[in-house]
Order: sequence, then structure tokens, then C-alpha cells
Amino acid sequence: MNEDIGPVLRRVYGRRRGKPLNAARQQLMDRLLPRLLLPVEEGDANLDPRMWFGPGVRQVWFEIGFGKGEHLAWQAQNHPDVGIIGCEPYETGVAGLLSEVSARNLQNVRIWTDDAALLLAALRPGSISRAFLLFPDPWPKARHHKRRFVSPDRLDILSRALADGAEFRAATDHEDYGEWILRHMADRDDFEWLAERPGDWRGRTTDWPQTRYEAKALARGAKPLYLRYRRGARGAGPAGGD
Ligand SMILES: C[S@@+](CC[C@H](N)C(=O)[O-])C[C@H]1O[C@@H](n2cnc3c(N)ncnc32)[C@H](O)[C@@H]1O
Repeated sequence: MNEDIGPVLRRVYGRRRGKPLNAARQQLMDRLLPRLLLPVEEGDANLDPRMWFGPGVRQVWFEIGFGKGEHLAWQAQNHPDVGIIGCEPYETGVAGLLSEVSARNLQNVRIWTDDAALLLAALRPGSISRAFLLFPDPWPKARHHKRRFVSPDRLDILSRALADGAEFRAATDHEDYGEWILRHMADRDDFEWLAERPGDWRGRTTDWPQTRYEAKALARGAKPLYLRYRRGARGAGPAGGD
């Protein structure tokens, strides 16, 4: 895979604002969000994300499109020695995560309110130890498939930011997007699918809590795909691929 990713164009297609926030959530947006927002500027390409966390943080994880933030907050609470960066352009979602951060007094969460790919591209190569893409917008119409987060250029950007051996978790309840993700990942030589038996993609591991979107999908009778990949070692043969 090519680590020279070139200029990255902003691609955020979903809505950014919902109903007006209630007073408590607006206060969190005004007072807490500025303390957690990441100071990244155009042209940054080699930022070490550990500098944004306290000295006890030994690795940094990354969630793309955290929705209302339940999964991210669970991971942060259960892994206090990990710094977690969450990306979500939807204001109501950001306020939801802030409410979790405040209620659980989480110290190890940082937030990016724009396209996750812009931030990934600003990070030092190999600086993220785990990434999550849970129930991304499926964009079912063929003419919208180019909006899907899983695409060759975005996977290049993600792969560059991931450390050797880092895990990438993806899930979807959308059959066509599931096949799309499997196909795009199978085309790459920098990721190895960790599944050994059907149970591995039919269910979550115990360190993978349910998301809000997933709960709604399950209630409809959907059967999501849960995918775990390992980022191959750089320059280490077929899985390395640089
Ligand atoms: C279907 S929702 C799923 C939310 C959550 N992961 C869950 O499972 O409940 C997809 C989320 O991805 C966010 N999103 C879309 N494009 C994004 C991008 N380029 N970077 C970061 N987040 C994005 C959307 O705002 C939306 O909240």
C-alpha cells in the first residue's frame, strides 16, 4: 500500500445538525467541548496523538462516526490507559458523547467534529493502535456508493495511521455494504481478516459493546456482520505490503 496519501478532500454527507439541544447539552457543548476538541491545522501530517493525553496513556484508539458515543464511552471507561479519539460531525451525537464523558468523568477522550479522514491524514504514520467503524452510513443507492467511508483512498488513509498489528473493527447491518467491505478489504495486502469461523463475524467479542444504531437494527431482525482485521507489519511480506 502507498503511504503517500496526497491531499485529502473533506467528505461529510450526512446531516450535521438535528433538533436544538436542551440547555444542559448546550452547556456541555459550550464549556466541555472546547477542552476536548483537537487543535489540528491544515497541512499537519505528522502529529503524535499521545501528546493530547495524560502521561498514563500508552496507546491511542480511534472511532470513526461514534453516533451518540455509547461504545466510545464504554471503551474509555474500561481502558483508562488508552486515549480515545472520537470523530463525529453530527452535533446531537457530539452532545451525547459529552454527556457520557461528564457523567462518567472520563479523562481519556478527545473529539474531532469533522471528517475522520482529515484527522487520520494529519497523524503520524503508525500512531493509532485500534480503530472502529461501527455501522457507517450505508448509502444504499448505487450513485451514492462513492460516499461510503470504506473506499480504497480512505482505507489508505486509515492504514497509514495504524500501527503494525493494530486492530480495525468494522460492523454493518446492511447486506450490500457488508459485501462491499469484505471485498474492499480482501483486495488489500495490508490488512488480514481475523475470522476463523462463522461465529467470529456473526457476533461481537466481549470487549465490544453494542451501539445505539446496532440495537435498532437488531430490533428489526437484522443480522449484522462484525469484522476484525489486523494491520500487517510494514514491509513484512504479503501482509506488510508497503
Ligand atoms: C449510522 S451512524 C452510526 C453511529 C454509531 N457508530 C452507531 O453505531 O450507533 C453513522 C455515523 O457516522 C457519522 N459520519 C458520517 N461520515 C463521517 C465521517 N466522514 N467522519 C466521521 N463520522 C462520520 C455520521 O454523522 C453518523 O453519526
